Amino acid sequence: MQQYEIAVLPGDGIGNEVMPEALRVLDVIGAKYGVRFDRRHFDWSCETYRKTGRMMPEDGLDRLRDHHAILLGAVGYPGVPDHISLWGLLIPIRRVFDQYVNLRPVRLLPGVTPPVRDKQPGDIDFWVVRENTEGEYSQLGGRQNEGTDRESVLQTASFSRFGTDRVMRYAFELARRLDKPHVTSATKSNGIYYSMPFWDERFAEIAQQYPDVRVDQDHIDILCARFVMSPERFDVVVASNLFGDILSDLGPGVTGTIGVAPSGNINPEGEHPSTFEPVHGSAPDIAGTGIANPIGQIWSAAMMLDHLGLTEAGADVVAAIEQVLSDDSTPRTPDMGGTARTEDLGKAIAEAVKD
Ligand code: NAI
Ligand code: MG
Repeated sequence: MQQYEIAVLPGDGIGNEVMPEALRVLDVIGAKYGVRFDRRHFDWSCETYRKTGRMMPEDGLDRLRDHHAILLGAVGYPGVPDHISLWGLLIPIRRVFDQYVNLRPVRLLPGVTPPVRDKQPGDIDFWVVRENTEGEYSQLGGRQNEGTDRESVLQTASFSRFGTDRVMRYAFELARRLDKPHVTSATKSNGIYYSMPFWDERFAEIAQQYPDVRVDQDHIDILCARFVMSPERFDVVVASNLFGDILSDLGPGVTGTIGVAPSGNINPEGEHPSTFEPVHGSAPDIAGTGIANPIGQIWSAAMMLDHLGLTEAGADVVAAIEQVLSDDSTPRTPDMGGTARTEDLGKAIAEAVKD
């Protein structure tokens, strides 16, 4: 029997409520496909920070290293500053494990009413590929003349040929999995003098190596407008760390609810584990009430299956989600206009996977 070791980090808030539903679905899929998922639980969270002064133990990354994948809920909670929880856990995991692709599907699901008019499932169906290790999110810079009226800060973005080329190549390879391969590059080379013209140069060069893939290039401002006005034009969108971060929340926002959106932080070479987590955070406003939508977490587990090479099993889970949402009589959580509880929706999807 195939066997995978999965590190499970529910984290904070609703992470603890949606994770059990993803594990429920994994159990069912494992039984169906004859695969075993050995799960090791880690309770690293803001709670850990309050008790120990650290988000994870000093050897935390070493303890994660030997797993096939990491399944994460959400981290962050009122009382602990967000830059502490993020830079204390998620960012080290992304960088040390070289998870240089942040991959987010943007798909309008059946049975969900989007905030944009007249869109059907199929109209909005694309991927955002965000660079996840460099770019605008850097610790390069400084602060001077603090506390005076001459106070100034400098924050430097850094783009390497290595880092830019590899994320673009990933986007092109992903596009080749589609019927009509097409990649759009998010740029701002009219306003940003060095990094974005460099980004465009690299995009043109990589595109030459993929003559079968149609390419487009949009400045980030009009690209945002087009996400809302004409989302059907996109298939794969490749973007720098900051642009990709913004686009990959805007995308799911346009499809209706953030509660269903999944993501993968991927080390494509498989030298290190990849991390799969819903796009949403710990939702302190509804945590503890049992009404969080578990679909983002379950779909993240499906992306994990696909990454592990269990492509059919991953597609099976996504199909089960779509099947449940297509049926008006199945449970729906309040963010989707229903009254169901987290567990009801999780169980319905697990049942649909069994069929
Ligand atoms: P959030 O995503 O936690 O919540 C935003 C809104 O969406 C809230 O009204 C919430 O109730 C709703 N929502 C989120 N997920 C939902 C779900 N599954 N079902 C139903 N409704 C859902 O974002 P917010 O409020 O900005 O951040 C809360 C905390 O989470 C902060 O500490 C933040 O740093 C952290 N966070 C962590 C992320 C991560 O772990 N990758 C990502 C985003 C935020
Ligand atoms: Mg974000």
